[in-house]
Amino acid sequence: MAQVDRRQFLGRGAAALLSFTSPLDRDAAAHSVPEFRVPLPIPRVLQPERSDSSADYYRIVQREAFTEILPGIRTRIWGYNGSFPGPTIEARRGRTTVVTQTNQLGVPTVVHLHGGVTRSEFDGFPTDTVAPGDSRAHQYDNSGRAATLWYHDHSWRSSGLNQYMGLAGFYLLKEDSDIEERLPHGQYDVPLMIQDRTFTSDGQLEYDHQRHHGVTGRVVLVNGAPWPVMEVAARRYRFRILNASNSNALRLALSSHQPLVLIATDQGFLPKPVVVSTVGLVPGERIELVVDFSVYPIGSQIVLQSRRAGGLAGPVMRFDVVRAARGDTSVPDRLTEFEPLRRSLATRTRTFVFSAKPTVAAPPGVRWDINGQFFDPLRVDADPRLGDIEVWRFINRGFLGQTMLHPVHTHLVSFQVLTRNGREPLRQERGWKDTVAIDDGEEVEVIMRWSGYRGRYLLHCHNVEHEDHSMMARVDVV
Ligand code: C2O
Ligand code: CU
Ligand code: CU
Repeated sequence: MAQVDRRQFLGRGAAALLSFTSPLDRDAAAHSVPEFRVPLPIPRVLQPERSDSSADYYRIVQREAFTEILPGIRTRIWGYNGSFPGPTIEARRGRTTVVTQTNQLGVPTVVHLHGGVTRSEFDGFPTDTVAPGDSRAHQYDNSGRAATLWYHDHSWRSSGLNQYMGLAGFYLLKEDSDIEERLPHGQYDVPLMIQDRTFTSDGQLEYDHQRHHGVTGRVVLVNGAPWPVMEVAARRYRFRILNASNSNALRLALSSHQPLVLIATDQGFLPKPVVVSTVGLVPGERIELVVDFSVYPIGSQIVLQSRRAGGLAGPVMRFDVVRAARGDTSVPDRLTEFEPLRRSLATRTRTFVFSAKPTVAAPPGVRWDINGQFFDPLRVDADPRLGDIEVWRFINRGFLGQTMLHPVHTHLVSFQVLTRNGREPLRQERGWKDTVAIDDGEEVEVIMRWSGYRGRYLLHCHNVEHEDHSMMARVDVV
């Protein structure tokens, strides 16, 4: 049986001496969150308000709410329909989804569907904000691959705070197929949104972007619950894992050392399953894996951990194997057709250097740039032609000790990783992606076809504080 040490979360200073006592002791509770005590919540699947032959229509209200994240404490959040995370939207390939978003918050907001092939006017450009009290209908054609997408705030200079306060939710783009049937499905197909948060002594969300380096949290939330526990049957499960942290990277592994069977990345199935002992997951990235709990005796406890040096290190959540089950699923050897895009087809190569400049302030801060420039919504930084194939080189160049990971994300299109530091991409990267880790000093080449729509899109770092200040470039598809 896998044995796990129960570890108490320790807060700062004197609070570190307190252990979890009673929910009424608010300070102690906020600083000493119990691990593996709260059951894993699954975000509710949103029901359409109405449907017709080609589309489903949803309504979401962005509003402030008080919700129990830490046991016994009410925390003020900003949520889609007041929930943290937001409700899950399930979409079908080829069927249109229309989501009308009403902003009932006190600040302007704008919603982006991460990973979606979306018309420019619905994509959530950072200056296309909706004023408090107003609404906007976003039409999603769902023409992309079946994959685990997510929607989140994208407001210029405040998406970090807005996402931190809770404005993020899953958007599962699904498609029926034999492969989907053979894999664990229904209640055994579970989305996991991992986020880190810091709480004030009275249990409220504390946003400190650390002079634009990125906010990091001391409490790990999965689907909005601290270090939750999920009771599982001794059978296979499919997990769709999203790192929705603002800036912290993860490296996931199981405490039992069971190898991870990866089946999908950002933009859907890998060509074939990839077996690894640990898997990296940077902000914005998704990975799907199948875990077979039938190898454990009933009563086993398996901890999902993160072991990222310079990122999140420690437990994430726990799986308790509580009942027997019949294994009626399998992991097919081939998951999807995958046609590599050949470099010789590219009409152009563009280079983007991700770096930083110090700001004149005391203490000095930092502003993040791409090719030496800060985001300007009126300046076009790249203008690929619709239909063209291009190679984009992403280079992470540190500056005066400002060396940080940059998770690079493209809107509208997905890409294939061609090379990582002149060599083969990581095994987890051998599929269609929309977000890629560029660590300090690294150089990654990706190739993409600019299909979909003409219009105004983005390339940016998905460390949301870097994105806000100002590591973002405007991409116009012409
Ligand atoms: Cu997940 Cu431009 O964002
Ligand atoms: Cu996106
Ligand atoms: Cu960055």
